[in-house]
Formats: sequence, structure tokens, C-alpha cells
Amino acid sequence: MELTGNWNFPTSICFGAGRIRELPDACRSLGMQRPLLVTDPALAKLPMVRDSVRRCVEAGLGCEVYSDLQANPIEENVTRGVEAFRKGKHDGVIAFGGGSALDTGKAIALMVGQTRPLFDFEDREDRYTRVDVGGMAPVVAVPTTAGTGSEVGRASVITDPRDNIKKIIFHPRMLPTTVIEDPELTLGLPPHVTAATGMDALSHCIEAFCSPLYHPLAEGVAVEAMRLVKEWLPVAVANGRNLEARSHMLIASSMGATAFQKGLGAMHSLSHPCGAYFNTHHGLTNAVVMPYVLVWNRSAIEEKMLRLAAFLGLGNHSFAAVLDWVLELRRRIGIQHTLAELGVRTEHAASLAPQALTDPSTSTNPLPMTERDFERLYRNCISGKL
Ligand SMILES: [Fe+2]
Repeated sequence: MELTGNWNFPTSICFGAGRIRELPDACRSLGMQRPLLVTDPALAKLPMVRDSVRRCVEAGLGCEVYSDLQANPIEENVTRGVEAFRKGKHDGVIAFGGGSALDTGKAIALMVGQTRPLFDFEDREDRYTRVDVGGMAPVVAVPTTAGTGSEVGRASVITDPRDNIKKIIFHPRMLPTTVIEDPELTLGLPPHVTAATGMDALSHCIEAFCSPLYHPLAEGVAVEAMRLVKEWLPVAVANGRNLEARSHMLIASSMGATAFQKGLGAMHSLSHPCGAYFNTHHGLTNAVVMPYVLVWNRSAIEEKMLRLAAFLGLGNHSFAAVLDWVLELRRRIGIQHTLAELGVRTEHAASLAPQALTDPSTSTNPLPMTERDFERLYRNCISGKL
């Protein structure tokens, strides 16, 4: 089967090996003459970015690169990007990279025409209505990892330096208008990044599937993406040059982010404060906490886990079968078992718990959570107590 397609759900997606060649056309069809390509400093040095810029320039576009951003991006990364956008008289953004670059690019495109500060648009109540939609720049998103799914997401996660909290900046129109998903761009990802980002995709699927909100459409997307992760993540980690595995993981990543319009849960609530305080990798942190959260939520998700086990073809259709599969998958692809191995210690549990509680993901955890619950859950994740 040829793994290629042009899809319009949840946005316009050009999927398939080699499709990056269509980047100049994608920019032009959104009216861009001078796109600002936003990426991270490591990617900026790689041929895939240089080639993309060259293609745009050869097509007559005034393309420049902005790469002053870090993993777990902070407000300043966005602010400086907005300055670069205005200084270069750009008219659109190519968000190119992993989650940090995609989120920063989307936030820059949001902010270039606003008068309010970034965190006025945090995803709380209906603050997104404050956005001057006419001031938003168009975005072409090009993911180079398979996990975040930010290319089909309507939000960016940016750390607020005032309280060191990761905040979700949301507007429905932050969904990139066009996405180019070229699995060849992910062939060079090292195994540990493949594993961690792939587990982020799985965490999106499993948390969305377990969210108590009614959204069968999202659940359908989530379970098929979990099947793809089950079949192909170990293959992609073992052999990064396997284009078929890379293709399936890339679309599974987009499916995970599509599904989590239904909500996330305590995996992300626990993970965000760790990322903000200890700069832990987002996907890796989710992967570490995943089994502990499943066990914690067991009473509320047992029936769903039976259905999932059946769909995934696990030996017996039970909660235990799903848990064992997650533990075995983690072990096989080299994910650590405890948060202690990522540098989080027991004495941090009490200070992280209040932030986990107020994380937007908490509201759709299958079980209601208290600060004390989060402290206990952190302790489990740190000590390895399942
Ligand atoms: Fe995530």
C-alpha cells in the first residue's frame, strides 16, 4: 500500500514521503510571500531546514529562519520570534520541528497581531475570545518528530517565567491551516527520541480514550492510533530507517493530538510541572508516569480497558493485559521506570502537586483529583510503587 494521501481532517494534511518538496506551494496557497521558518537551533543546522529554505527562496519566497528557542519553550522565545517576524516584514510562519518548535511557531503566528500579552490567552474560561483573529498570521506546520501532534493542535504549551508554570495558549484558529507530514524527515531521529515522542502520542491516545467526556469520534481515532503505536513504535525504535514504521508513527502522532480534543488526564498533569521545573522531556515524562496513572484510575477505566485490550488483540481482555502491554512496551524501547531516574526526588512531590492540580488536563482525568492525591501519585512515580 502506498502510504500517501491528501486529507482534510482535522485540517489540510499532505501526507507521504518526499512531500516536503511541496512546502513553497503550501506557503503560497496561504498568501505568503515572506514566510518566517521557526525551528530549534539544532534543526536549523541540518540539511532538511537548509534545503527547505533554499526551496522557498528558489520559488521566489523571502524565507528566513528564526531558531532562538529552547526545549520546553518560554515566553521570551515567542516574544523574540514576534520581533523577528515584524523586523523581517514576514507574512506567515512555517513551524518546522518537534513540539517545541511547532508550539513556538504557532504562538508567534498568534501574537504578531495582538496588543495583549501572551498569557492573556491562556486556556481558561473563554479567554481565547480576547484574540484579535484578524491579527493572526497563517501557519504551515512541518513535524519532524512523531509524538507531540502539535501540527494538528489548537494550542501551544509555553512556560510563564513569572511562576515557572507551563501554560496552554489556545485559540481554535491556532490549528495550522496546512500540514506537511513527510516521514522522511523523521528517519534520522535517534532511538531514545523516537521512543519518548512515540510514547507522548500513546499518552495522548490513552488519556483521550479514558477522558470521561462524551466524544465517540475522538475515541475512534484514539484506539486506531494506539494500534499503530503498538505495531510500529518498537519497529521505529529498533530500525529508525524503516519508512513504513516512520509513516505509521507520524500519522499516529497526529491522530493522538486530534483525539485529545476530548481531554487529557493526570499523565499530562504530572508531566507538565516536571518539565517546567526540571526540564524533563515531555514525552519521556509521560511515558514514565503512564502505568502509575493507569493503576490510579483503574476503578474508573476498567471497562474501557477491556474494550481496548480486545481491539489491540492482547492475550486476555483485561485491565491487567493493557497494563502489562504498557510496561513491556516501555521496557522494550528503553523508557525509565521511575521519575527518580529523571531527577525528581520524593521531597519535590509536595511542591509539584499544587501545580499538577491546577493543570488544565486535570479536569478530564477519569477520577477527580485532590492535591493530596497528586502528591501520593508523584510519590508512587518517584519510588516505583505501582
Ligand atoms: Fe503530550
